[in-house]
Amino acid sequence: MGERNRLTVEYILEKKRKQQKITMLTAYDYPVASIIDKAGIDIILVGDSLANVVLGLELTREIGMGEMLHHAKAVNRAVEHALLVGDMPYGSYHKGRQNAVKNAQRFIKEAGCNAIKIEWFAKCLDVAQSIVAAGIPVMGHVGLTPQTADRFGGMKVHGKDAKSAKKIIQYAKGLEQAGCFSIVLECIPDRIAQIITEELTIPTIGIGAGVHCDGQVLVSYDLLGLFDRFHPKFAKEYVDLKYVIFKAVSRYREDVLEERFPTREHSFTIKEEEIKKLKG
Ligand code: KIV
Repeated sequence: MGERNRLTVEYILEKKRKQQKITMLTAYDYPVASIIDKAGIDIILVGDSLANVVLGLELTREIGMGEMLHHAKAVNRAVEHALLVGDMPYGSYHKGRQNAVKNAQRFIKEAGCNAIKIEWFAKCLDVAQSIVAAGIPVMGHVGLTPQTADRFGGMKVHGKDAKSAKKIIQYAKGLEQAGCFSIVLECIPDRIAQIITEELTIPTIGIGAGVHCDGQVLVSYDLLGLFDRFHPKFAKEYVDLKYVIFKAVSRYREDVLEERFPTREHSFTIKEEEIKKLKG
């Protein structure tokens, strides 16, 4: 582990004031987190998308504190530069303020995160306030909130009419007032994200929310082409690692079958005289 000199919440806020874009990506393990960190991404989120893209589950709601902390600890070991945010899983901040604060503290103390993220739900303002009061920076999340999407409007673009857009704007303002240091805007029209971005003093980080947000976040496995169960319209695949890995594994398999691997270069030797002695 190298010298840690992580970005601070203050630095992220300053970026908005200076109108500099904020970059954020998810990570779930040591090697990918290390590459993302070295590439200079500002914020690394150990997202509960872990459930879908790494653990092969259907819903983000299916994972709990145990899995999230396990992966957050691995990511923490890799991250020297980025601000590290832990995504609180469903159920970890819905059972009263005290319980929410206790779970948020676990992300900080046990997993080395610098902040936590919570999705919008009816009592999230109280929860956000309590976690902030305990000294833990909180990132909010409005629009499409995958943990509860099946109950609140589904996995689709939210805020497409004036009434629902107004609600999302209110939610975002509420989270700012509750003390959040930034807010993820997921799957909302770009014009609504622009209004929120202009009206808030804290940064907005968009995913499927257009170019006007203060920053952007993607699920790293979408960017890397490692996940193909579904392709959200907002995701951009920068490389097809599925194909790269498939080709590498196929070449390895053929090399083993054809005895092209291992070569002497990958083998260990013993002096001939020792072999003679051995054979008697
Ligand atoms: O879990 C996740 O990956 C997220 C991002 C989509 C922001 O919450």
